[in-house]
Amino acid sequence: MNVLIIRQLCRSFREGVRVHRVLDQADAHVAGGEAVAVIGRSGSGKSTLLNLISGIDRADSGTVEIDGRDVTALIEPQRTLFRRARIGFVYQFFNLLPTLDVEENVRLALELNGVRGAEARQRSAAMLTEVGLGDRLHGAVDALSGGEQQRVAIARALVHEPTLLLADEPTGNLDEETAQQVLPVLFSITRARGATLLVVTHDEALARSADRVLELRDGQLHEAADSHSSGRRAAAR
Ligand SMILES: Nc1ncnc2c1ncn2[C@@H]1O[C@H](COP(=O)(O)OP(=O)(O)O)[C@@H](O)[C@H]1O
Ligand SMILES: [Mg+2]
Repeated sequence: MNVLIIRQLCRSFREGVRVHRVLDQADAHVAGGEAVAVIGRSGSGKSTLLNLISGIDRADSGTVEIDGRDVTALIEPQRTLFRRARIGFVYQFFNLLPTLDVEENVRLALELNGVRGAEARQRSAAMLTEVGLGDRLHGAVDALSGGEQQRVAIARALVHEPTLLLADEPTGNLDEETAQQVLPVLFSITRARGATLLVVTHDEALARSADRVLELRDGQLHEAADSHSSGRRAAAR
């Protein structure tokens, strides 16, 4: 079953008198539980694509279906509610809230979905233990290293059990050694939950860990070379 179906997706930006077609009838299918890396040169539209999938940005035309639901047809506030419940997001620069402690940052994703009190605290703590931060629950987020902050962000993105995890260059702000520690966490936790992962990256190690690689080029998504066979392996798993 496809968890994500992108059809004929278009998004242009006006640059003075010129119109820049960033996405030009992009199509893609991603199966449930699949981990897909999206590569492409800087400015090719990778972040734009993720923002359209999550509903933060709106397409000019085309559709994005998540779990059989056309999210491009949703209007506010349903769009925001759908995003909060079904999608997790990991950013390059972590985007943690410095006024909240580690556990509160994660718990917020549950509270926004109506899960509160002891259950919310227990689930946040369990999630942070899973990413190896069970002993830092009530520390300040800015006392953590970059790798630790990104693990908090991964816990926050998955604690509410979303269908789809979107990650935009999650190792882009980490040194190579730290990236090597964060990557397995991202993949193993996403797979353990059966969530679908779409991760934008420049990191070749990260792309190799994915089931399939899509390249964004000239506004469209292309199956990257060598990616078919690994995709079939994933589908057969
Ligand atoms: N809100 C915006 N307004 C105008 N241009 C934008 C906007 N967002 C993105 N762009 C343009 O769209 C192109 C793709 O940007 P982006 O999706 O950030 O690329 P990538 O993430 O692949 O580096 C760039 O040329 C960028 O300048
Ligand atoms: Mg980007």
